[in-house]
Amino acid sequence: MRNAYIATLFIVVLTFSILGLRNRTFTKPPMDVFPEWLFPGMKYQPKLTQQQQSPFFADGRSDRPAPPNTVPASFGPAGQGVRSDDFLYRGKLHDGSWARGFPPALTLDMKFMERGRERFTIYCSPCHGAVGDGGGITKKYGMGAVPTYHDDRLRQMAEGEIFNTITNGKGQMNPYGDKLAPRDRWAVIAYVRALQLAQTGTVADVPEDHRAELGLK
Ligand code: HEC
Repeated sequence: MRNAYIATLFIVVLTFSILGLRNRTFTKPPMDVFPEWLFPGMKYQPKLTQQQQSPFFADGRSDRPAPPNTVPASFGPAGQGVRSDDFLYRGKLHDGSWARGFPPALTLDMKFMERGRERFTIYCSPCHGAVGDGGGITKKYGMGAVPTYHDDRLRQMAEGEIFNTITNGKGQMNPYGDKLAPRDRWAVIAYVRALQLAQTGTVADVPEDHRAELGLK
């Protein structure tokens, strides 16, 4: 009989302690079973959240604007573009098709081309080769499936699609979205186009006053 009383009491206490405290708002922090000083974890971290003041920065803001020349790693939740210029940042037109040509915001000049050549040499030539024929140094080490840029498919591929390949990678090719800023990706594409043209160009493409340099008349 005594056991039955104890069991009933136990069940009543258990029921109240689980259900009885629902919807209560507590003003004091809960008791820590495993105190932070004894078991340091990640529950309490020195961090700044949005809208919080920071004595560290001169303007007192804790949410910092992105530093100049940094590469955005994402475009907001679940691929929602937080940037308005799809052409520049995704290589797409508003109807979702691949854009052709270069974003109007960019100036295609010799400086841009030089930048593209430099980035291409660092990031692409190890696989694609200095002239883009797929004969880079990695071929020696077993990277076999690198395509040449000098076939009709890649000559006719929209610039926007190449932009997407650089950003997200394809097959065995890694993504370069975290290594090349969007503008640099476009500069690389301009250089890829120059490499392609270099293989198919004719005398007619050379301005007249430069033909003598090539030994042409
Ligand atoms: C690690 C080696 C490697 C590097 C570095 C590399 N690629 Fe590639 N790339 C590949 C391979 C492999 C493929 C074939 C992918 C496939 O079709 O599966 C490819 C395919 C491509 C294609 C054709 C995509 C298509 O749709 O057929 C383009 C364009 C391209 N790369 C451009 C670049 C540019 C620009 C860079 C430098 C930013 C670069 N790649 C760096 C290995 C590489």
